[in-house]
Amino acid sequence: MSFTGQSIISANQFSPASLKDIFERADRITKRVQQEGVLPTLNDKVMATLFYEPSTRTRLSFESAMQRLGGRVVSTSSAKQYSSVIKGETLSDTIRTIQQYSDVIVLRHTDKGAATEASTVAQIPIINAGDGDGEHPTQALLDMYTILKESGRHEGLKIAMIGDLKYGRTVHSLSQLLTLYDNSFYFVSPPELTIPAWVKEKITCPYQETQNLLEILPEVDVLYVTRIQKERFESEAEYERYRGVYKITPEVMEKAKSTMVLMHPLPRIDEISPAIDTDPRAAYFRQVKNGMLIRMTMLSLVFGRNL
Ligand code: NCD
Repeated sequence: MSFTGQSIISANQFSPASLKDIFERADRITKRVQQEGVLPTLNDKVMATLFYEPSTRTRLSFESAMQRLGGRVVSTSSAKQYSSVIKGETLSDTIRTIQQYSDVIVLRHTDKGAATEASTVAQIPIINAGDGDGEHPTQALLDMYTILKESGRHEGLKIAMIGDLKYGRTVHSLSQLLTLYDNSFYFVSPPELTIPAWVKEKITCPYQETQNLLEILPEVDVLYVTRIQKERFESEAEYERYRGVYKITPEVMEKAKSTMVLMHPLPRIDEISPAIDTDPRAAYFRQVKNGMLIRMTMLSLVFGRNL
């Protein structure tokens, strides 16, 4: 399937064949970036980033991806405060405007479904960089790529996802990609923060829901830790109830396989002790690097450029 001129909205747009192609391209791009630093692939293109929610990695990795492809970037971070939204402009009008200046729009928004809405009015591709508690498809791609790099495969794995599975959009997208292969899941969360029904419906692999990490940890091949999504709770008191509910410490890691891959989309608050950062199983900073490479891959595909 071709992504040329297509918006990237959901993990459901990918198949095993398209993932294979994406990861082979990402390997080629990795080598070329090492050799050349900046490539001339998109030197006739402009990317706009429109972020209504905070971001460090997603926005900067998209922007550095575009720069490393020779493209240009225009950017509105904190769009809620600093764009015409504050004057009452609708998302649709903002998109209709920004598309006059750019060739692709990377959008992060507070509302689930915002990227779909934007893609229906836009005449240029929209890339969903997180829509509220919905999805985060490019994060899922870089997570899959990391799993492949770290464990040499992305099938036949027992994957545990832990933390805020209700609001954590990275989990919603990643589980849709992992279920394309022969894997099995443990979803570890407090009972109030379990994975939502609309995601469960898409999961065809066997899965088990539990609150108890230690019970299943010795079996786990990939442990994907998430932050309790503070900004999605109605009150500070509700957030405080779940804050710090799971903590990966060196003692916890002693119970895990020596080959386990420990991942986190970041930012971490207190879910993973910094004492683990030097553990070879801690893959989260390598995961960050893969973000830029995967976003270079997706930008080149959206513009139909071969690499
Ligand atoms: C995630 C997000 O924004 O959904 N961060 C990211 O993009 N790497 C995870 C999070 O904020 O907890």
